[in-house]
Amino acid sequence: MTKLLHSACLLICISGAIGLAAAAAGHPGCQTRCGDVDIPFPFGIGDHCAIHEGFRLECDNAMKGTSNQKPFWGDFEVIKISMEDGKVWVKAYMSRQCYNQSTGGMSYSDASANLSGSSFWLSDTDNKITVIGCKTLAYMTTDSYVIGCSSACDNKVNKLTPKNGSCSGAGCCQANVPKSIQYYQGYFNEDYNTTKIWMSSPCSYMAVMETAAFNFSTSYLTSSVFYDTYKGGVPVVYDWAITSKTCTEARRNKTSYACISNNSQCIDNLTNAQGYRCKCSNGYEGNPYIKDGCKDIDECLNNATYPCKGICTNTLGNFTCSCSPGSYMMNGDCMPKKKLRFDSVPVVVGASIISVVLVITIMCAYLIKERRKLQLIKQHYFRQHGGLLLFEEMKSQQGVAFKIFSHEELQEATNRFNEQQILGQGGHGTVYKGLLKGNMEVAVKRCMTINEHQKKEFGKEMLILSQINHKNIVKLLGCCLEVEVPMLVYEFIPNGTLFDLIHGNHGQQISLATRLQIAHESAEALTYLHSCASPPILHGDIKSSNILLDRNLIAKVSDFGASILAPTDESQFVTLVQGTCGYLDPEYMQLCQLTDKSDVYSFGVVLVELLTCQKAFNLNAPEHEKSLSMRFLNAMKNNKLADILDDQIKNSENMPFLEEIAELAAQCLEMSGVNRPSMKHIADNLDRLRKVMQHPWAEQNSEELESLLGESSMVSSRYTSTGNFSMERKGVMELDSGR
Ligand SMILES: *[C@@H]1O[C@H](CO)[C@@H](O)[C@H](O)[C@H]1NC(C)=O
Ligand SMILES: *[C@@H]1O[C@H](CO)[C@@H](O)[C@H](O)[C@H]1NC(C)=O
Ligand SMILES: *[C@@H]1O[C@H](CO)[C@@H](O)[C@H](O)[C@H]1NC(C)=O
Ligand SMILES: *[C@@H]1O[C@H](CO)[C@@H](O)[C@H](O)[C@H]1NC(C)=O
Ligand SMILES: *[C@@H]1O[C@H](CO)[C@@H](O)[C@H](O)[C@H]1NC(C)=O
Ligand SMILES: *[C@@H]1O[C@H](CO)[C@@H](O)[C@H](O)[C@H]1NC(C)=O
Ligand SMILES: *[C@@H]1O[C@H](CO)[C@@H](O)[C@H](O)[C@H]1NC(C)=O
Ligand SMILES: *[C@@H]1O[C@H](CO)[C@@H](O)[C@H](O)[C@H]1NC(C)=O
Ligand SMILES: *[C@@H]1O[C@H](CO)[C@@H](O)[C@H](O)[C@H]1NC(C)=O
Ligand SMILES: *[C@@H]1O[C@H](CO)[C@@H](O)[C@H](O)[C@H]1NC(C)=O
Repeated sequence: MTKLLHSACLLICISGAIGLAAAAAGHPGCQTRCGDVDIPFPFGIGDHCAIHEGFRLECDNAMKGTSNQKPFWGDFEVIKISMEDGKVWVKAYMSRQCYNQSTGGMSYSDASANLSGSSFWLSDTDNKITVIGCKTLAYMTTDSYVIGCSSACDNKVNKLTPKNGSCSGAGCCQANVPKSIQYYQGYFNEDYNTTKIWMSSPCSYMAVMETAAFNFSTSYLTSSVFYDTYKGGVPVVYDWAITSKTCTEARRNKTSYACISNNSQCIDNLTNAQGYRCKCSNGYEGNPYIKDGCKDIDECLNNATYPCKGICTNTLGNFTCSCSPGSYMMNGDCMPKKKLRFDSVPVVVGASIISVVLVITIMCAYLIKERRKLQLIKQHYFRQHGGLLLFEEMKSQQGVAFKIFSHEELQEATNRFNEQQILGQGGHGTVYKGLLKGNMEVAVKRCMTINEHQKKEFGKEMLILSQINHKNIVKLLGCCLEVEVPMLVYEFIPNGTLFDLIHGNHGQQISLATRLQIAHESAEALTYLHSCASPPILHGDIKSSNILLDRNLIAKVSDFGASILAPTDESQFVTLVQGTCGYLDPEYMQLCQLTDKSDVYSFGVVLVELLTCQKAFNLNAPEHEKSLSMRFLNAMKNNKLADILDDQIKNSENMPFLEEIAELAAQCLEMSGVNRPSMKHIADNLDRLRKVMQHPWAEQNSEELESLLGESSMVSSRYTSTGNFSMERKGVMELDSGR
């Protein structure tokens, strides 16, 4: 008898277990766990277990000889799978550069990951590009971006001291990952290496990894702890989608549609991944990818999330909360009903009037308190961002056309920061198109994050930027300070960026005159910032995508995200090198000191871009030709300028002008800042060239043109160190072959 009972129980237990396994897996007979990792459908191990081959995993003995099994997706070891968020955690390799004592040079290992064609995307919200090193410039290169940062230690100018738990330029730096990345590779700039400091810090690392898993320790710089910890791979988060179809497209094929559970929904408004995923409807939980995977939530078992002070009854997809027959519901509480005696009616009526009044009073007090709290938070941010200072200044200086916007105003203008309003995304923030009341178009920039020091300076900086009034600089109309990260409101410039004009494939002809005009106007804007603003303002991130163009192709310099007011004392030097690959002043990166000549360098790159129609940084080129400035300087040195010029403008008529602009650009690209000309000198020269070009007689009377051009060469030669230049017949300078 007992035996019978026992086996009956066993049978029930076994069938219960089978039922559970079937619920967690998609297909019967498939493994639902590998090592310590749960493998929910749509993922599956081996043949016919995953929803399609893209979700197929293998369960392997990672280390031969041990019985530790681990799931693998291709070469990646899978650590965790989240069905609700559509994320998967895997281990990927890091990139490393180390001093090699036996060769006396550097050893490199560059890691890459290629998810192209798969249903996986690098998560932009969970990962960061993390660089560790004492003299390191490393970047993540993708099909369309180059993003990175540089870190340094104990630089005398900056007094950078690496600190445990802090990753902001000292020994460690981080950069944000853009959206929708499937291919990425780590990459070191070889000019920044640890050859000279190998005794204290032999290695640098670059890893695209989960932000939450990283905590910087100073021991990463001096020992091999970081490498030893993550030798088997750094944790990185990928977003996934079932296929790249939209929900509507996917529903058409009943056999392949993935959201098969009752009470499941299809979602395809994914921000990073492209395609669709499934989720259980509200009130249900479980696996939407398997039949009947979404189960009703019994809310009554979870009083904390679904509070109910009365009798809780679970319903399908919801629950009800009611009171026993002898009581009634009041403000979510059950009140016992009192039997009313006839003579007590007036007392009861009076009491209820009083209680109603009381309740109303309490509610009003509560509302007022909450509103006050919100007000206080807003005031706190406002003060933190230097709002008071700005306010006082504005009161004293009347007539400043600068507005402090409220958060609501900007929310309304940008349609609640709708994604469709996004004009551009960069390292410093996201720019939205907005429509203010009165139909005024603006660009609203929401900064990414700013640090404590920047917060205090913000208001002051705003005031100075607001006073800039130059026809070639995008006008700052106002800002919003009552939010955690401040927002800036700029005038809206309709015609895109110079980058789009040059590199966008519109097949549009851009004449030399137009190019010269844009270059000259941009130079004027920078001259104004450098020499007319007080204190001088350094832009810090000049590039073709920061030069906007209006309807008449008038240039407008924008994005002062990286800009600082020229420092008046040493402690104010910027500590984190920011900028864009291909445009960064090499001297700035070495000394971490931004000067007006750094802007000159970047402007030189823009000039070369205008001349050659080539991008400042070309990933696909061989090692020494990645940087446009390098290629350009090489061409100049070897007397092969004509080879690199854009065919559209290369003709004999233009040649004298092209040569002189190229010479100007070469001066801007001098390695040493002191040898570069000032922005004013550049602007004056470009202005003169424009005038010469406009004069119709210039073409016929070439002698006069030559004398004009020659005159300028004399001026520019002042800026070279030892007269390494010689004059050519045309009066245009040429570089000595010795240089
Ligand atoms: C150093 O270089 C040698 C020769 O290229 C190489 O065999 C060795 O593996 C390198 N050592 C390290 C630690 O990379
Ligand atoms: C990435 O993989 C895809 C398909 O597997 C391939 O076409 C592409 O060339 C690869 N990209 C790189 C940069 O290797
Ligand atoms: C940082 O932490 C490591 C251990 O995690 C320790 O060895 C090191 O001394 C600490 N550095 C500083 C500057 O406190
Ligand atoms: C990072 O490590 C330090 C000790 O080195 C610790 O004090 C700090 O709490 C850690 N931070 C996080 C976010 O884990
Ligand atoms: C290391 O950097 C220096 C310049 O700082 C450079 O001269 C040298 O060639 C670099 N070494 C390697 C191996 O790249
Ligand atoms: C529907 O999906 C199945 C399974 O992926 C596939 O074999 C079939 O060809 C698809 N049918 C259509 C009409 O696309
Ligand atoms: C799922 O829904 C279908 C139709 O909506 C219904 O016929 C079927 O019984 C449901 N299955 C379960 C287990 O509720
Ligand atoms: C996608 O749409 C659902 C409702 O359809 C909404 O709840 C969710 O917030 C949206 N997600 C994003 C990222 O827009
Ligand atoms: C739920 O919690 C409230 C207190 O938050 C308690 O009064 C009530 O009795 C609880 N209900 C159940 C069914 O446990
Ligand atoms: C659950 O019921 C409440 C009212 O009883 C309703 O307000 C709520 O929208 C329902 N929730 C769902 C998910 O249907």
